[in-house]
Amino acid sequence: MDYLVIARKYRPQTFSDVAGQDVVARTLTNAIRSNRVAHAYLFTGPRGVGKTSMARIFAKALACEQGPTTEPCGVCQHCMMITNGSHPDVVEIDAARFNSVDDIRTLADQASFAPSLARMRLFILDEVHMLSNAAWNALLKVLEEPPAHLRFIFATTEVDRVLPTVLSRCQRFDFRSIALDDIVKRLRSIAETEGMALSEPVLYRLARAAGGGMRDAQTLLDQLIAVSENGVREEDLNLLLGAARGEDVEALVSALIAGQTAQALEHLESTSQAGVAPASLLDQVIDHLRGMLLLQACGRDSPALRRLGLLTEALERHAKDCPPEKSLRICQLLVGCQQALRHGVDPRLQLELTCVRISRLGQLAGIDDLLKRLERLESAGPPRP
Ligand SMILES: Nc1ncnc2c1ncn2[C@@H]1O[C@H](COP(=O)(O)OP(=O)(O)OP(=O)(O)O)[C@@H](O)[C@H]1O
Ligand SMILES: [Mg+2]
Ligand SMILES: [Zn+2]
Repeated sequence: MDYLVIARKYRPQTFSDVAGQDVVARTLTNAIRSNRVAHAYLFTGPRGVGKTSMARIFAKALACEQGPTTEPCGVCQHCMMITNGSHPDVVEIDAARFNSVDDIRTLADQASFAPSLARMRLFILDEVHMLSNAAWNALLKVLEEPPAHLRFIFATTEVDRVLPTVLSRCQRFDFRSIALDDIVKRLRSIAETEGMALSEPVLYRLARAAGGGMRDAQTLLDQLIAVSENGVREEDLNLLLGAARGEDVEALVSALIAGQTAQALEHLESTSQAGVAPASLLDQVIDHLRGMLLLQACGRDSPALRRLGLLTEALERHAKDCPPEKSLRICQLLVGCQQALRHGVDPRLQLELTCVRISRLGQLAGIDDLLKRLERLESAGPPRP
């Protein structure tokens, strides 16, 4: 069999197989069950979270020999043809390329033909924000009074660019970014099927790097499998994610806690020389601080700490050396820096400033320490005149 990238090989084939889009799946299956399928749907949401997959499953649900059904069989001629993109009545169009007014006119003309195999015709138009107003106008009439056999699914990552006249003629579904745990679960099962043993921390790091996109997560997994021949090495993962080495992150945090400004800035410089982007380094430092806070608040048995694979010798040392109040304050400054980066401030400069501020926090005394001192003062009695 030809090599198929993971993201395509593991495309979900049933409604329950689509991770993290339960509301959409439930609403669509209810519509099928109660025979109230609308003529036009608009699927919006970030890249790689299941819009096209859901559209194809929906097509199968309607066209399947057993259907309309909420559980398409996957093996009848309709299901098979939809899976491999050859069903004559299920037309998938990439509106980013096929978007001239003439293209859309041809499509609108075709739309009136009766289905040739299935009981309906379904047009899936992807990237519809690329359609011009003139192109939409050529489609509006069919959209307004569609023939009974016709269904449309529009998909876009940029719903703001879709005309209000179109929006008001569609049922809209907002697909969400996929939760970290859902991505990890999926990656774990794919890795198992592929015969690849991946530790939980590796799975979590991959999932987090994907930022809520399932396709991105699977593409990263593909790349990781490609570079690691005999098991996954940490440096492969770092290289893939553009991340700093664990020991470099730990050295930076040590300098920050100890108030060694010059050393902290040197570590920034050397990781930057190694090609690590300031934003990635910042994420890693924040993770480390998060680990310290978890360790200080919940102890070594914190499930989150174990799951994220944050527990290291250095982390334990840092958690011991740095009072919880100070860890919290450092974390706040780092998160503030992360927010500033989202607003497009020069990342390197911002990170440097933050490191200087942190390393100058000095020895913030812990609350326990202060309480003890108060108690000592009180037991010593009132000051003598
Ligand atoms: N919710 C999901 N559950 C399981 N796998 C998913 C999910 N979303 C995406 N994937 C995986 O990512 C691949 C691409 O997904 P899909 O084409 O449905 O994304 P999309 O939302 O249409 O993205 P785009 O906006 O880029 O077109 C699928 O083949 C599948 O492997
Ligand atoms: Mg798509
Ligand atoms: Zn079928």
